[in-house]
Amino acid sequence: MKIIAGNWKMNTGIEEAGKLAQAIAEKPVKDGVRAVVCPPFTHLQTVGAQLKDTDYALGAQNMSPYDDGAYTGEISAKMLKELGVAYVILGHSERREIMGETDALVREKMEKALKEDLVPIVCVGENLEQREAGKEKDVVGKQVAAVLENAAADLSSVVIAYEPIWAIGTGKTASAEQAEEMCAFIYEQVEKFVPGKTLPVLYGGSVKPENVEELLAQPHIDGALVGGASLKADSYHKLVEGRA
Ligand code: 13P
Repeated sequence: MKIIAGNWKMNTGIEEAGKLAQAIAEKPVKDGVRAVVCPPFTHLQTVGAQLKDTDYALGAQNMSPYDDGAYTGEISAKMLKELGVAYVILGHSERREIMGETDALVREKMEKALKEDLVPIVCVGENLEQREAGKEKDVVGKQVAAVLENAAADLSSVVIAYEPIWAIGTGKTASAEQAEEMCAFIYEQVEKFVPGKTLPVLYGGSVKPENVEELLAQPHIDGALVGGASLKADSYHKLVEGRA
């Protein structure tokens, strides 16, 4: 089973989002693919209404680790569930780098998502400097360990997304070999911390219809987390179909 998750990031107006979701929902998803659409919080209800009872699942881009209370500006897992959200992207590099999210916070959020039966898509990935210094596996290994090591929760539904920061929004995709090498490494780490469990590992970073087929053909790449190319129904459908 392949997972194709579209991360709209902070894009689209609400009307545009509704139209995009409507156009997306028109096309059925083939067996063996799980297609997820992650609009901004403010568009979840509109997009969710279009995707209801279709082959597409609704996802959010972030979530609070808290249940409720005095957390101005935060959105809880329960609030997301009320809107029909099934997946939540956590620890995206943009949140780690721009909003200062730490490994510990990402882990807290993941545990909360699991408790509330949301599927967490936990993002990991190195920046350019770390890759050029040959430290990419140290960085990613540490990020994976930070969420999986000694976890009390049942991790069976966790999805990991490897998104090298240097490949995000740059048009510079990791080669299929580079992506496969890191995703295979993540498989090994998962086996170390959660023996006997296989968690899906997605690749993200300038995935587009032209390169999706080669990426998805790799043995340890179970899907894609896509930004820019998920913002047009036509290219998103091609990603879901797995070819240009
Ligand atoms: P792009 O596909 O635009 O490079 O974004 C990748 C990403 O960050 C998805 O979460």
